[in-house]
Amino acid sequence: MNEQHGAPQWCLETSLVHAGERVAAPHATPSATPIYNATTYLYPTLEELEQAFTTGDGYLYTRHGNPTVAAFEAAVTAAEVGRGAVAYGSGMAALHAALLAACTPRGETAPRPRAILAARDLYGSTTVLLDTLFAARDATVVFADLCDLAIAEAALAEQQPDVVLVEQISNPLLHIVDVAELAARCHAVGARLVVDSTIATPVLQQPLTLGADLVVHSATKYLGGHGDAAGGVVVARTGLLHATLVQQAKLLGASLGPFEAQQLHRGLKTLALRMERQCASAAQVAHFLAKHPAVTHVYYPGLAEHPAHALAATSFGGRFGGLVSCELRGGGAAVRPFVDRLKLFLPATTLGDIYSLVSVPAMASHRELSPAQRAERGISDGLVRLSVGIEAPADLIADLATALG
Ligand SMILES: Cc1ncc(COP(=O)(O)O)c(C=O)c1O
Repeated sequence: MNEQHGAPQWCLETSLVHAGERVAAPHATPSATPIYNATTYLYPTLEELEQAFTTGDGYLYTRHGNPTVAAFEAAVTAAEVGRGAVAYGSGMAALHAALLAACTPRGETAPRPRAILAARDLYGSTTVLLDTLFAARDATVVFADLCDLAIAEAALAEQQPDVVLVEQISNPLLHIVDVAELAARCHAVGARLVVDSTIATPVLQQPLTLGADLVVHSATKYLGGHGDAAGGVVVARTGLLHATLVQQAKLLGASLGPFEAQQLHRGLKTLALRMERQCASAAQVAHFLAKHPAVTHVYYPGLAEHPAHALAATSFGGRFGGLVSCELRGGGAAVRPFVDRLKLFLPATTLGDIYSLVSVPAMASHRELSPAQRAERGISDGLVRLSVGIEAPADLIADLATALG
């Protein structure tokens, strides 16, 4: 090593590795959180490193915590009015983590085989996650129509579950849950309520404020909103559940990366604006489809005939979400030509993007379910799910009219 101008002058190989790194940032705050892609963090002395391990204050290793990811977690915590959040690499990882945390008895650190009561209408992979991974670990899993409070009450009394899982605005039939009433009934039997609020988003409802214990999002959908980053996040109502999530996340290792965290955080900033537009356009699309002779049924909580229209109207501040599902006259045979003729609605296996999207649940989100499971849940071959984007509603309706025509 040579010394020049008071700074170490290394050999080329060493300099290529270290030069330019760890230079203190200028004394000014960047307006947006930078992408911290370092996998590990340095302390001036080993004693300070040891202290960071002991207290949990400060960053050590990116799987344990990362400033870019923490900024996204803080933003989602604020949006959901929670005590803390943990972000993951996908919505499925977030659901897995939320269920494990909810299955961890109070005062313990590891999950135990528990009784789980789940809504019947859930994203297909969530049903399969419960039916396979959780059932294989000796959890008892029962599915019931938890939108119906009488059925929910009977199932809670019979199953005495430890954990209850629902989606707020379910995928793909857009069922609505009375979160406040369900949370009260869950707590009465000592169960924790987990709400997958991917489709409602905090713009329509904040389930933790109504008593839910954990809220889960596939951030890949509305939170990110641009179809360019996958992620998931769980927000806890209590410090205890948040601490359990944090502790288990280090071992699960399904952490969100800093690049995705930055993309998702940027998307989150326009969530309210996007939802406003998407909800308004979805209402127009739903009313158009409801009158169209090629459509036999429309699933949309904003229509008076939706079974939970009144609940949705009071719960979601006059908005009804950005999804519309419908049954085509002609069933499965009518679906392919309809989807192939669409030009603006992109045939993609996701939802919640700024682009309008069309998906066939029997072929995509619910293909892992058996035909019997799909029939039991009301997912027919002629069911189509539309995710309304931010394009001009007139263009979207013209696209649908052409494809249906
Ligand atoms: C309601 C809901 N929850 C969870 C997921 C899973 O999210 P991801 O695809 O980010 O793993 C999805 C995916 O479509 C979903 O629709």
